[in-house]
Order: sequence, then C-alpha cells, then structure tokens
Amino acid sequence: MRKFWMALSGLIMVGYLLLHMYGNLKMFSGTKVVDAPGGGTQEVYAYDAYAEHLRVIGDPLLPEEGLLWIIRVVLVLAILVHMWSAFTLWSRAKKASGGSRRYANNKAIQRSYASYTMRWGGVTIALFVLYHLLHFTIGGAANPVIDTAQGAQTIFPRVVESFQNPLVLISYIIAMIAVGLHIRHGFWSAFATLGANTSIKARAIWNTVAIIIALVIVLGFLAGPIAIFFGGITL
Ligand code: HEM
Repeated sequence: MRKFWMALSGLIMVGYLLLHMYGNLKMFSGTKVVDAPGGGTQEVYAYDAYAEHLRVIGDPLLPEEGLLWIIRVVLVLAILVHMWSAFTLWSRAKKASGGSRRYANNKAIQRSYASYTMRWGGVTIALFVLYHLLHFTIGGAANPVIDTAQGAQTIFPRVVESFQNPLVLISYIIAMIAVGLHIRHGFWSAFATLGANTSIKARAIWNTVAIIIALVIVLGFLAGPIAIFFGGITL
C-alpha cells in the first residue's frame, strides 16, 4: 500500500513538473501587450503575464490565487505522502537487510544502484526545493544576485538576473540532473507498482516513456536558464 501512495504522489508531482516546465518556457515569449489596471494598455513580459494569469484563473468562481492554493495544497500533501512512504520503506528495507551492509553486497549491486540514487537523489531534490522556494517564491532570501529591498520587482527580471550568475546556473543544472534520474526510475517504478509490468514489451514501452518524460522535463527546464546565461534571453 505504501508503494501505491508513493506511486500516486510521485505521478501527481510529475504532472505538476510538466505544467511548471511548460510555464517556464514563457521565458522565450518576450513581451506582450495587456490591459492596464487603470485603463488603456501596457507592455509586460509574457512570463510575468503568465504568472499573473495563474493567480486569477477561475475568477470570479474562485477567489484570487484560488486555483494556485488548491494546487499548492495538493502538492504539499503529495510531497508529505511521498516522503513518509520513502522514509518508512527505507527503514523497513534497512531492518530487513541487517543495516547498511547491504551496499557492500556486490550481488545486489543493481538493486543498490537504483535505491541509492532514488534515496539520495530524493534528499537532494528536497533540499533543492527548499532553496528554490527561498530563491523565487519567498522573496529571494537565498538569492545571491537580487537586492530584495527593491521589493516591487516582477518575477521575470529576478529569474533573468539569477541565471546570469554561473553558480546559480550550475546549482540548477545539478538539481535538474537529480530530478531527471529520479523521474526516470520513479516513473517506471510507479507504473510497475500500478500493475503495468506485465510483459517484456510492456516493460520496454514504459521504460521508454519514462526516459522521454525525464528528458522533456530536464531539457524543458534547463533551456531557459541556459539561454539566459548565454545572452539569448535578456531584459
Ligand atoms: C530551471 C528550473 C526551474 C525554474 C527556472 C523555476 C522557476 C520558478 C519560479 C520563477 C517560481 C515562482 C513563480 C511565481 O511566483 O510566479 C517557481 C515556483 C515554484 N517551483 Fe520552480 N522552477 C524550476 C524548477 C522546479 C523544479 C524542478 C521543482 C520541483 C522539484 C520546482 C518547484 C516549484 C514550486 C513548488 C514552486 C512554488 C509554486 C507556488 O508558488 O505555488 N521548480 N519556480
């Protein structure tokens, strides 16, 4: 049952990542003209317009940021369930194998490789999400580039100035590699848990789907930051 919850919460997060990655591709969309709050029109970054749009989807049925809060609650629940399943399965495996000697057992090398990358990759991603939230969502506390005293800045200039810094770019590249490896193995395992591991052909198909989804997410996320770094996207 725990593996079922792990699979379900993981797939919810993959869905979120696909949407988030798609949203990030708006970095390539330049500016657009929108209605100004006081009447008339104004030119804004397409990335900012998209972020603003996410806050008002569902209006007037939902309050401002209504849908965003529904997504946030579902995401936080998915993260908690995923971490709870991971840690309880981890300690169960440790007890069953008589402690960490399992990694010294050459016969189990293949299984150990997957569980090792999944566990420590998962921990790396959790740390990245913490950094990422501080970086963009909670106001730039961990951002080495932006002066948060400027307060009223929209999100796009913050993103562009961040990825002009090689250290920020490198930390995101490392995090995205961890995310890619985690999704490649996790997505496949999720479908195996949900009963798709029925034949060699089915296994090969799900394995290919997992590789494609992981590649789309990693390359889709990194395209913008790399373009910014090399001057392809500017303010
Ligand atoms: C190059 C990769 C990424 C970039 C450039 C990026 C960019 C951003 C930006 C600009 C925001 C703030 C949006 C806003 O306030 O309107 C944000 C929020 C967020 N990102 Fe990312 N992101 C990336 C990858 C990821 C990954 C891999 C994850 C998860 C593993 C993730 C999880 C989140 C979460 C949970 C939020 C908070 C959403 C909310 O406010 O409700 N991001 N991201």
